Amino acid sequence: MSRRKKRQTGAARRGKANSRAASKAIPRATPKKAKWADHYTRLARKDRYPARSVYKLKEIQAKYRLIRPGSKVLDLGCAPGAWLLYAAEKTGPGGCVVGIDIKPVTISLPGQVRVVTADLFTLAPDFWQSAGAPFDSVISDLAPATTGNKMVDTARSSALCETALAIAVDHLVIGGSFVCKVFQGPDFQPFVANIKRLFKRYDIFKPQSSRKASREIYITGLTFSGGNHVRT
Ligand SMILES: C[S@@+](CC[C@H](N)C(=O)[O-])C[C@H]1O[C@@H](n2cnc3c(N)ncnc32)[C@H](O)[C@@H]1O
Repeated sequence: MSRRKKRQTGAARRGKANSRAASKAIPRATPKKAKWADHYTRLARKDRYPARSVYKLKEIQAKYRLIRPGSKVLDLGCAPGAWLLYAAEKTGPGGCVVGIDIKPVTISLPGQVRVVTADLFTLAPDFWQSAGAPFDSVISDLAPATTGNKMVDTARSSALCETALAIAVDHLVIGGSFVCKVFQGPDFQPFVANIKRLFKRYDIFKPQSSRKASREIYITGLTFSGGNHVRT
């Protein structure tokens, strides 16, 4: 064997040892969690959606029938675009879906969908009229970039929920509906109380396609009755 070949073999051996060390250092998903994720990821690929989160909205829609043909929908935190595609299927070409996300949406979308790449916290008040407000439904799957610190992540998620609700209150038609992903924490009950005050009916729903171990849950507010948003 040449010296060069010998050197390559040594490097390859070192590489193998390093990757073994790395696989020890990085905790792997539990088999159950991985199986769950694989199932919905595979399903999303088969159904041509860019994210498995679509199955949560499908379950919400099957239960509450929020999006109707011809509806105007506002999708907050819309990237990579699975909810946008599904909402557009439900509104049909006679409706309209406006999506907002800090990240760009790169998939191709039907003509009734419009996406704005922006941070929700920095939108100008005059943005909404040009975006097509008022809306029949505001749907929010907003989630912050996680830090691993439970307190920080819950506080960030709570700020997103409050902002989504404030937008819904300002830009929903009377009788409109609201869906919001919430990570349960200390602000959860006051948030529910706010929804209860603003909508004729409300519900708290954990879709089957949401991991049981995850603290995420969806709150729906049905039949908006008007009124002001009060931050909790
Ligand atoms: C779970 S993902 C949404 C998935 C989406 N429903 C789908 O089906 O493709 C949450 C999204 O919230 C967005 N987000 C978080 N904070 C935001 C902010 N301040 N303004 C706009 N979007 C934000 C993230 O960029 C991320 O794309």
